[in-house]
Amino acid sequence: MSCARALAACCLWRLRTGALQPLSAYGRRISVRFCSSGMTLDNINREAVDRIIRVDHAGEYGANRIYAGQMAVLGRTSIGPVIQKMWDQEKDHLKKFNELMVAFRVRPTVLMPFWNVVGFALGAGTALLGKEGAMACTVAVEESIAHHYNNQIRTLMEKEPEKYEKLLQVIKKFRDEELEHHDIGLEHDAELAPAYVVLKSVIQAGCKVAIYLSERL
Ligand SMILES: [Fe+2]
Ligand SMILES: [Fe+2]
Repeated sequence: MSCARALAACCLWRLRTGALQPLSAYGRRISVRFCSSGMTLDNINREAVDRIIRVDHAGEYGANRIYAGQMAVLGRTSIGPVIQKMWDQEKDHLKKFNELMVAFRVRPTVLMPFWNVVGFALGAGTALLGKEGAMACTVAVEESIAHHYNNQIRTLMEKEPEKYEKLLQVIKKFRDEELEHHDIGLEHDAELAPAYVVLKSVIQAGCKVAIYLSERL
């Protein structure tokens, strides 16, 4: 292919894919219409939204891997359907954040392969302690995620809540469902897990590190 034809093909591809539209510059305020998400946000704070969507996507992905690990160990026991129901909701959460990543053109964290392995290992490892261990893991993780979502809601509300209304609705809905998972964990004897307090503290410390890294990397 000649240089001129290659250049023309490249331009055509960029026009078709929308790659000629200016992408976000970190921290700069820009005006964007997000048709596929049904959201129209003018002059959004790009840096804040990038961070929020990236870390939430990573968190929901990690939650899915945790429940996958739990199901691998306990899927055929009496607690299996309880875990499966929570996992199904996590699948919906992840699907939503996948859509938001595309709509807002946010890249995933580079740590995704790591969360894949760590999430599954955490779910399977705690499930090997028994039903109570798995539920203790659920309580610890869901409490951390709900706390994290509350912080994000506060941040967005302090900025300009009307601009972030749709995103706020998503986060609030998911926060409520994470709290339901937390309560389900407690109802199913999480506190009877071996070394519950220590286990919960260690997992929540890990969640804090995971949140910190996923927002930045
Ligand atoms: Fe979730
Ligand atoms: Fe959850």
